[in-house]
Amino acid sequence: MLKTEFYTGTFILLSVIISLISADAVFEEKKNDTSVKTVDNDTFVFYVNYTGSDKPCIIARFSAAFQITYLAQNGSSTTHSSVVNMTKPDKYSGSCMEQNNTLKITFRDQWILEMTYSNHKSEYALTRAKLTYKIDSDLFPNATNLGLNDAENTELSEFNVIVGKSYKCYSLSKIDLNQNVTIDFRNYQAQALIKADTKTEGFDTAVECVADIVGSNKLVPIIIGIVLIVLVALVLVAYVIGRRRYRPTYQQV
Ligand SMILES: *[C@@H]1O[C@H](CO)[C@@H](O)[C@H](O)[C@H]1NC(C)=O
Ligand SMILES: *[C@@H]1O[C@H](CO)[C@@H](O)[C@H](O)[C@H]1NC(C)=O
Ligand SMILES: *[C@@H]1O[C@H](CO)[C@@H](O)[C@H](O)[C@H]1NC(C)=O
Ligand SMILES: *[C@@H]1O[C@H](CO)[C@@H](O)[C@H](O)[C@H]1NC(C)=O
Ligand SMILES: *[C@@H]1O[C@H](CO)[C@@H](O)[C@H](O)[C@H]1NC(C)=O
Ligand SMILES: *[C@@H]1O[C@H](CO)[C@@H](O)[C@H](O)[C@H]1NC(C)=O
Ligand SMILES: *[C@@H]1O[C@H](CO)[C@@H](O)[C@H](O)[C@H]1NC(C)=O
Ligand SMILES: *[C@@H]1O[C@H](CO)[C@@H](O)[C@H](O)[C@H]1NC(C)=O
Repeated sequence: MLKTEFYTGTFILLSVIISLISADAVFEEKKNDTSVKTVDNDTFVFYVNYTGSDKPCIIARFSAAFQITYLAQNGSSTTHSSVVNMTKPDKYSGSCMEQNNTLKITFRDQWILEMTYSNHKSEYALTRAKLTYKIDSDLFPNATNLGLNDAENTELSEFNVIVGKSYKCYSLSKIDLNQNVTIDFRNYQAQALIKADTKTEGFDTAVECVADIVGSNKLVPIIIGIVLIVLVALVLVAYVIGRRRYRPTYQQV
């Protein structure tokens, strides 16, 4: 009996120590995701500043591609679809209101991507995105309706995070604007609703999307931790049941 208790005790202690170490490793990695660095050629960085100040309310870094369905003439009238990457911005601007911050990016001459982050209680999210795009014969082969179009979604709730933190998702995030336009964000990290005069550069602690956590080896320590906790629970339950089962025998003696 004493031997079993000794083994169980040692096992529990070891499990707790290992779980604590794994949790710490995960936390440690998160604290590092604060620099606003570009990842490749297609990734762009944006600082939207308060009026008359060089302090930002939005810091964002991402690459974007747009999947666009359009009407084309190929014998008969059909719909085709093209994927168009965001290119180096011609210019960008934005606004820093108390309840919402907007980023407006102009690229490919007349294309415009607008993103609005809104505050809700202690959190903020991307709540609106609008793309103005130009159907031309280069990017949209055999297109019939050439010219400017737009697609907007004002009911989004993406990249949700607590004010004072950034949101990071290097994996693909798909956002539908309407039935014809989908935005593919990659290498995304952004922080909005940054209070006036608090910072000039660098993100605060990042909350990561599930795909990033699953896609990296960060999941391994988490799984080991969970498996150990389950094992400990099972051993404890078996131990308690074992003791109860034998009690009547003791009472009869
Ligand atoms: C965090 O960053 C520092 C320096 O930037 C580096 O020395 C350290 O190894 C990083 N930690 C992790 C867990 O990546
Ligand atoms: C960036 O673009 C340049 C030329 O456009 C190319 O030579 C280079 O390989 C690209 N780098 C990456 C990381 O894609
Ligand atoms: C905001 O200020 C930073 C300097 O802190 C500057 O690099 C950046 O271009 C400014 N953003 C805009 C949109 O003017
Ligand atoms: C989507 O595109 C089709 C033409 O391809 C057009 O008829 C339709 O109105 C568009 N839908 C929206 C929501 O813009
Ligand atoms: C454009 O239409 C022509 C016929 O009108 C067809 O031969 C060609 O393959 C089409 N091109 C594309 C990219 O769909
Ligand atoms: C255009 O039509 C031809 C014949 O109908 C078809 O073989 C071809 O794949 C079509 N092109 C596109 C891009 O859909
Ligand atoms: C668009 O971006 C993707 C991924 O970043 C890349 O593989 C592709 O070659 C790009 N397309 C063009 C036309 O630049
Ligand atoms: C942003 O906030 C202002 C004032 O609080 C409001 O008038 C405006 O409609 C909001 N814009 C969006 C896109 O939510």
